[in-house]
Amino acid sequence: EVERIIGRYPKGREASAIMPLLWLAQYQMQQQTGIAWLPLPVIEFVAAQIGVPKMRAMEVVSFYTMYNPKPVGRYHVQVCGTTPCLLRGSDDVMAACKNRGMTKGKTTPDGLFTLTEVECMGTCTNAPMVQINDENYEDLDFDRMAALLDALAAGETPKAGTQIAGRPTTV
Ligand code: FES
Repeated sequence: EVERIIGRYPKGREASAIMPLLWLAQYQMQQQTGIAWLPLPVIEFVAAQIGVPKMRAMEVVSFYTMYNPKPVGRYHVQVCGTTPCLLRGSDDVMAACKNRGMTKGKTTPDGLFTLTEVECMGTCTNAPMVQINDENYEDLDFDRMAALLDALAAGETPKAGTQIAGRPTTV
């Protein structure tokens, strides 16, 4: 898979593959350990594959919220706080998270949830929204977010996309 990804870029431009390679590494960490994150040796390994200094790879990991340089909980709850979501009630979504004992930037003691505030995730038409692991949940309010977290904590798989019946999910 690494060769396939590097092969998308012209010879001599292998460093351009850094983002998809880091993403692949984080995905594989999740598959193998249940936690999506990038330990330092993994970051160094990715850097070595494309011949860039490990500091360059660290810069990418620390800049983008899609990479987790520290372990996250079983559910990484990323609440969008950018203007369209803010105007449509992301404070209420955040309040539902805090009501469940979650703190921004931290993982709950039971290891279930990590709460992160992020910038626009491109789903503004159904704001406010959150991304949890690989799924987006849209058209949220306090009660819908609370129900979503309850379902996840109970081991259920809530329906992704809009949380309002009859509304189209953002694609
Ligand atoms: Fe929240 Fe765009 S502002 S998804």
